[in-house]
Amino acid sequence: MKKIGLLSVGAYLPEEKLTNTDLEKMIDTTDEWITTRTGIQERRIAKNMLCSDLATRAAQDCLSGFHTHPKLIISSTSTNEYRFPYQASTVANRLGLIGIPAFDLNAACSGLIYSMAVAHSMMMTGNITTALVTAGERMSYFVDYQDRTSCILFGDGASALLLSSDHPEHEILTIELGTDATGSDCIIMGGPEQDFYFRQAGKQVFKFAVQKMGELIDSLKKKIGWKAGERFFILPHQANKRMMESVAKDKGIPLENFVINIEKYGNTSSASIGLALKEAWEKNLFQKGDYLFLIGFGGGLSWGAAAIRW
Ligand code: UT7
Repeated sequence: MKKIGLLSVGAYLPEEKLTNTDLEKMIDTTDEWITTRTGIQERRIAKNMLCSDLATRAAQDCLSGFHTHPKLIISSTSTNEYRFPYQASTVANRLGLIGIPAFDLNAACSGLIYSMAVAHSMMMTGNITTALVTAGERMSYFVDYQDRTSCILFGDGASALLLSSDHPEHEILTIELGTDATGSDCIIMGGPEQDFYFRQAGKQVFKFAVQKMGELIDSLKKKIGWKAGERFFILPHQANKRMMESVAKDKGIPLENFVINIEKYGNTSSASIGLALKEAWEKNLFQKGDYLFLIGFGGGLSWGAAAIRW
């Protein structure tokens, strides 16, 4: 069977920071509340950039140094500035990737994993050897900065992955997707009138995420035949540090096995897993043979998990 690997990861973060101290001046909150409840200290805000600008920069970062011309582009986003042109078309145009299939995919915070899964299966069944997946989110456009329960959570950013069957060394072993659609209205954003700004049933989503992450870790381990003692890292969607601590405790997994960078960027929706992956890769955290479990969850209520062998 064809093997598909992760050849490269890219990232882009806007320069402007919004710190907890800044938020203390805007709403009735404290650095202490935000830090202890979420682990977030600051986030990035795209002031003069569009969502597609962020995704384009991440894609450029991902492709830099590679003389490759992807044969497919999928852009995960819930926050593009237009419905048309859809984001993948804008990004493809700017990168000069003309004539290839390009489309957007919205699966909220699980969108990067969903996009990976679609790219992976198109590569498996077709003659596509290289695919670019971007995840660009400008959450700040949909955040009500008077709502202290949500505005403290989000930041803007983008990540991108390059998948290749010519270079399968960081092989994607398995991907699992799902949606508990009974929770479809637990996270709402971008609708008419009062449904425009982000809002969520926070506690319900928290419970769902902790339980689902635990189940997905077990399920991935089983599917790939993980054996006790083998090294693995979890790269979860960065929604709340307390969630990762809960999963670590429930499953008896050291917190050091979780790649966490939420303190710097907050929740960047579908971009967050790629941002964590980029940072960990640059720090040489992974050794040959390690397993990486990428785990997304969020609106839908969706989930997506991928196992990669380093
Ligand atoms: O990526 C999308 C998926 N989303 C998630 O994964 C989010 C999951 N949920 C969460 O992460 C948590 O539920 C939140 C961080 C959103 C909220 O934490 P919580 O521990 O569930 O807090 P809460 O909503 O129960 O609020 C506790 C208290 C309330 O006050 P009372 O009613 O106890 O007096 C809130 O009004 O904290 C208050 N509060 C705040 N206080 C200071 C809420 N937001 C703030 C704030 N600053 N920013």
